[in-house]
Amino acid sequence: MSDIDSLERQILDAIDNAADEAALETVRVSALGKKGSISELLKSLGAMSPEERREKGPLFNGVRDRVAAAIAERKTVLARLKLDARLAFERIDVTLPPRPELRGTIHPVSQVQDEITAIFADLGFAVAEGPDVEFDEYNFTKLNIPPDHPARQMHDTFYVSRQTDGARHVLRTHTSPVQARVMLSQKPPIRVIVPGRTYRRDSDATHTPMFHQVEALVIDEETHLGHLRWVVEEFCSAFFEVERIELRARPSYFPFTEPSVEWDMRCDRSGGQIKFGTGNDWLELGGSGMVHPRVLEMCGIDPSRYQGFACGFGIDRMAMLKYGAPDLRPFFESDLRWLRHFGFAALDLPTLDGGLSR
Ligand code: DAH
Repeated sequence: MSDIDSLERQILDAIDNAADEAALETVRVSALGKKGSISELLKSLGAMSPEERREKGPLFNGVRDRVAAAIAERKTVLARLKLDARLAFERIDVTLPPRPELRGTIHPVSQVQDEITAIFADLGFAVAEGPDVEFDEYNFTKLNIPPDHPARQMHDTFYVSRQTDGARHVLRTHTSPVQARVMLSQKPPIRVIVPGRTYRRDSDATHTPMFHQVEALVIDEETHLGHLRWVVEEFCSAFFEVERIELRARPSYFPFTEPSVEWDMRCDRSGGQIKFGTGNDWLELGGSGMVHPRVLEMCGIDPSRYQGFACGFGIDRMAMLKYGAPDLRPFFESDLRWLRHFGFAALDLPTLDGGLSR
């Protein structure tokens, strides 16, 4: 074997044996670097006679090309080995239960939202959604609250700056605009609930600028206040997990319903804890009514053929009542101690059969 051949063999072996990128780099520098063995060979061509150069030139260049190719190949192999090792080292078994100190809990608002959804799903309602940043048109006008209507003042609205096309956006002050969205996009019969975030400029122990509501909407050919009452009753008795509840209807006013009714539930606050179904106190639940014919008309539904009812309740307040939280503000402060105290096990989904909150 010639000297050149054995040099090549030696370098190729060193390349194959390089255990990591640093070792490979050392081999590369010793062969192809400025003072490397192959570089020296190539330099020696300058001192040769033209004939000798014609013979050795291709020989040396061939060695250089093969060594360079071997280095590149080894580099790829080493990079792959490194990645494989890292993947094996960092592998996480996502099926393992979480470590206790890292275990999260379900926020009471999410829990109550899931409970409400389970109850209404059982009654045949679907869930509808709409955006938090809403058109003024849907939040107010289509709900029979025209621009100068005094009811707008009651809503303490957050306005978003006017768009280039002149349209005005608001942070929705209630979930009712989704009624309009649903009626404009679905044909009756309609049976939906809309749980979601709502916003008003208000803040004290029982009000936060962001809060949650759930809206229910039913549109069909024959619906009346009796249906509305039955739905509210069924819902309350399932939600508060009491067999017998007693509701009181109070006449009220909402621009988007006619007639409008507010519901109170009989309760007992005497023992420091609230009990439902007995006692001499009344707990306000929320507003409701038969959907105003003008609203139906503005949302493309023929009021001479269809009618319906709607209601809207505050989710946070229901969570406070059911789970005994006295102040609303900690709901949105993300204090882990509060969340651990009031939170729910992540894998317990509320169902009517299995129990909503057990
Ligand atoms: N959107 C009303 C509010 O936030 C609540 C409400 C009242 C909703 C009557 C309704 C309804 O669907 O029919 O004050």
